[in-house]
Amino acid sequence: MTSYKELGLVNTKDLFKKAISGGYAIPAYNFNNMEQMQAIIQACVETKSPVILQVSAGARKYANQNILKNMARGAVEYAHELGYDIPIVLHLDHGDSFEICKDCIETGFSSVMIDGSHLPYDENVALTKKVCEHAHAQKDYVTVEGELGVLAGVEDDVSAEHSHYTQPSEVIDFVNKTKVDSLAISIGTSHGRAKFKPEQCTRDANGILIPPPLRFDILEEIEKQIPGFPIVLHGSSSVPIEYVHIIEKFGGKLSDSVGIPEEQLRKAAKSAVCKINIDSDGRLAMTAMIRKVFMEKPDEFDPRKYLGPARDELKKLYSHKNMNVLGSAGQA
Ligand code: 13P
Repeated sequence: MTSYKELGLVNTKDLFKKAISGGYAIPAYNFNNMEQMQAIIQACVETKSPVILQVSAGARKYANQNILKNMARGAVEYAHELGYDIPIVLHLDHGDSFEICKDCIETGFSSVMIDGSHLPYDENVALTKKVCEHAHAQKDYVTVEGELGVLAGVEDDVSAEHSHYTQPSEVIDFVNKTKVDSLAISIGTSHGRAKFKPEQCTRDANGILIPPPLRFDILEEIEKQIPGFPIVLHGSSSVPIEYVHIIEKFGGKLSDSVGIPEEQLRKAAKSAVCKINIDSDGRLAMTAMIRKVFMEKPDEFDPRKYLGPARDELKKLYSHKNMNVLGSAGQA
């Protein structure tokens, strides 16, 4: 058993309290390799932002949980070496069973998500409560994120064909019964790079898809029910069209890509939304740069020569998010 404190990590408790009162959101960036982790830490140290390093079940399978744990320890030391000790959380994204949450807690995660949103309500309550009881009883309190409502889209092993918005009438009961520390809700975001079908969108003069707006009315109703309670938004990549264009220019094909506009995320970050999950945008930035190098320099075969530019681009992307979208810059 490794406690997250031994790794130099923190849980989400204080970070969320400050984020809600300060009107910003903490970035939760998914990672599963060294370059992504380096880019996240470089960006967050430079912009002085707290950060949640987020690992999905798929990432855990891909990279090995012990390696990820030691990468998180390395991230803490790397931030220190770069000259600024930002708060770093290691979080399990979309845990789907008690066992995976327990395993992660034993490996040194400081926060876990138990996603019972696909289950009938009472089963979601029972599973989330069980994980909370276990996580909260640890010597060092581990925070737990639950979910109500279902997001559409696909992310690693998580997929849902149709979304169901969170029902504000359920949130008080869910939070009281389970004792979760934060709640992921569904108000129109979804996982992946094609968040809406073209027929759900309009098009601007250049033919670019414009998505339907997020359901801020549902968010407001939820905030009325549980004032000041930490809310989480999944599926919050903006799917920058510049990256889609670079990928397509250099041989990729990503038709009908559309994300959540940045100004809507900025608005959400000013509310009780205090954690915003971003994965797909990082994938797009990396893929764009790697494709560019491959096409422009066909004789290049040193991975550092294509992963390096990808890492630099990722860092730019994350700094931009912290400064201009989430408002977390300067809050560490
Ligand atoms: P995106 O696919 O929009 O990046 O969402 C990631 C996410 O919500 C991880 O849980």
